[in-house]
Amino acid sequence: MHIYKVGGAVRDRLLGRPVTDIDWLVVGATVEDMLAKGFRPVGADFPVFLHPKTGQEYALARTERKSGRGYGGFTFHASPDVTLEQDLIRRDLTINAMAEDADGTLYDPYQGKADLDRRLLRHVSPAFAEDPLRVLRVARFAARYAPLGFKVADDTLGLMQHISASGELLALTAERTWKEIERALMEAHPKVFFEVLRACNALHVLLPELEPHPQTLVALEQAARHQLALPVRWACLLHPLPTASIKALNQRLKTPRECQDLSMLTSQCLEQANKALELPAQTLLDLLQTFDVYRRPQRFEDFLAACRAIAQGNGQTDYRQADYLQGAMAAARAVDVKPLVQAGFTGQALGEALKNERLQTLDAYKGS
Ligand code: CTP
Repeated sequence: MHIYKVGGAVRDRLLGRPVTDIDWLVVGATVEDMLAKGFRPVGADFPVFLHPKTGQEYALARTERKSGRGYGGFTFHASPDVTLEQDLIRRDLTINAMAEDADGTLYDPYQGKADLDRRLLRHVSPAFAEDPLRVLRVARFAARYAPLGFKVADDTLGLMQHISASGELLALTAERTWKEIERALMEAHPKVFFEVLRACNALHVLLPELEPHPQTLVALEQAARHQLALPVRWACLLHPLPTASIKALNQRLKTPRECQDLSMLTSQCLEQANKALELPAQTLLDLLQTFDVYRRPQRFEDFLAACRAIAQGNGQTDYRQADYLQGAMAAARAVDVKPLVQAGFTGQALGEALKNERLQTLDAYKGS
């Protein structure tokens, strides 16, 4: 049996980038050989194992054949006679189809190193089309390596356009699609991800709600520049969409709760935040209430970060509204309930008295 380091670990070492995950490829072994060496199988039908000590992934060399639509439609053929070249040719990009043995010898049958040097994201073979998720992966790699000057090869973009037109993207599960979007959003230049999806017509298929709003990418870039959290980036991207579209998009992609909440609230409350300095105390109080700042101050902080990034995207460098609203939140949160309890307020009356106190505090804050 021969064991090779493959995929991202080889690519990123050659690029001089930190290697976080190592994937290993095992050629010339059977499932039984692996089990006998103490490797733990990952899934029932998938020829992948975890190393008994390091926990790293070891996959048996395999060829893949499509038997139906989407991910669930794959059948895997893993056997000891599958060669290294046969395994590598079914991978997505040439830069991901290199292997390295224990001596550090590079195996590069599909010119991945040359493509790395030419800064080209190029598919290995027509087998690329067997997994439509690769359209999103290429867009994500384009975003990640944009600062290094990487571009999608023309032929590959053509193939991606073909996949978009085939309807295969619609067969992807929400979980796989969102995972790619989430990873792309957290890259340093997420804008490129959406631009590549647009260029290959996948945006129209997967995220049609975004098509009429290319300007949101500017806000998203600002959020990325400030290294803001995932829900903030998502909220920046969706902010001008109609509420119904944001809701539908979140439901379709099964996005995490925080992303759903912040994207909805940002689109609903952005206008108010922009007018913060003119808002009456009651409206300020209602806004803070909407965000439930007494129990969830971080969500309001995230909202303000999104508002700031959106303003910066619109060319507004000084967004005083954010500091002002932060101060309002701090003032309202500082109102102490104890004196009201000591004064004998209970139940609904206590709630009303507390609201009143906060209103007066905000009124004073406005005047200060
Ligand atoms: N791969 C593929 N097609 C996919 C997913 C993965 O061909 N849809 C292959 C590629 O060779 C890839 C390797 O499997 O390099 C490992 O995949 P993964 O760990 O998902 O990605 P990495 O390339 O390691 O990249 P990242 O840095 O994003 O983890």
